[in-house]
Amino acid sequence: MRLAVLGASGRTGKIVVREAIARGHEVTAVVRNLKKLTDKHDNLQVVTADIFDPDSLVSYFEGRDAVLSCLGCGPSVFSMRKITFFTDSIRPIVEAMRKVKVTRLVFMSSWYTKHNSADPFIVNWVLKPLLLGQTLRNSGEMEDFLETECPDVRYTSVRSPELSDSESTGKPVLFMEGQSIQSAERKRFVVCRKDVAKFIIDITEKDEHIRKCMAIASG
Ligand SMILES: NC(=O)c1ccc[n+]([C@@H]2O[C@H](COP(=O)([O-])OP(=O)(O)OC[C@H]3O[C@@H](n4cnc5c(N)ncnc54)[C@H](OP(=O)(O)O)[C@@H]3O)[C@@H](O)[C@H]2O)c1
Repeated sequence: MRLAVLGASGRTGKIVVREAIARGHEVTAVVRNLKKLTDKHDNLQVVTADIFDPDSLVSYFEGRDAVLSCLGCGPSVFSMRKITFFTDSIRPIVEAMRKVKVTRLVFMSSWYTKHNSADPFIVNWVLKPLLLGQTLRNSGEMEDFLETECPDVRYTSVRSPELSDSESTGKPVLFMEGQSIQSAERKRFVVCRKDVAKFIIDITEKDEHIRKCMAIASG
């Protein structure tokens, strides 16, 4: 496949690029700073573009089978900084995809993007007020935009719990449609970035989970 990867210089983005290359795909890695992704391979093109400008993205999307996004922004402590990063970037990304008739989009999001009073106490009363409320709210708004305003986009939102840099256990990645995975046996879920990358490339190859938000976790 021919893939464009956004946020390719990030901690997960780099692993997604390497996983795709290892499986024989042709990758255009879109970054804002070339020094942050120095990998070399015949099937890898590293380019700079402005993710907020569709005209800057369009030539890197043309002829691609899918756009994969590992974009992310820092948290907002005590919600003091209003985060609009995800909605500000998804609009130009979709505009550029439409210009060159690319319809498949797989992007990273998070567990708990929507409010649910039944979610764990620590999520609603500690994590969201202290650190992640703005990020999760705006990630949810990005998902809403795709659902309601982009019927032509064949997207999958890959919702992660806490990301880790540990090695994959090799067990199958857990996944289900919804905003989290709950289990009576396990109190805390994490997902390692290698498992996220594997899941993103798997569902892109198999063209699975179209127009769905999938919660994942390491097995
Ligand atoms: N961290 C967690 O525990 C966690 C949990 C659940 C979900 N997530 C979600 O997972 C995603 C990826 O996480 P990660 O840890 O891999 O992220 P990361 O290492 O921080 O990477 C973020 C990527 O986005 C790029 N980026 C940020 N602002 C940009 C801008 N204005 N223009 C262009 N590129 C920009 C960064 O580019 P530079 O390299 O140039 O900075 C980097 O490539 C995020 O969406 C996050 O919300 C994270």
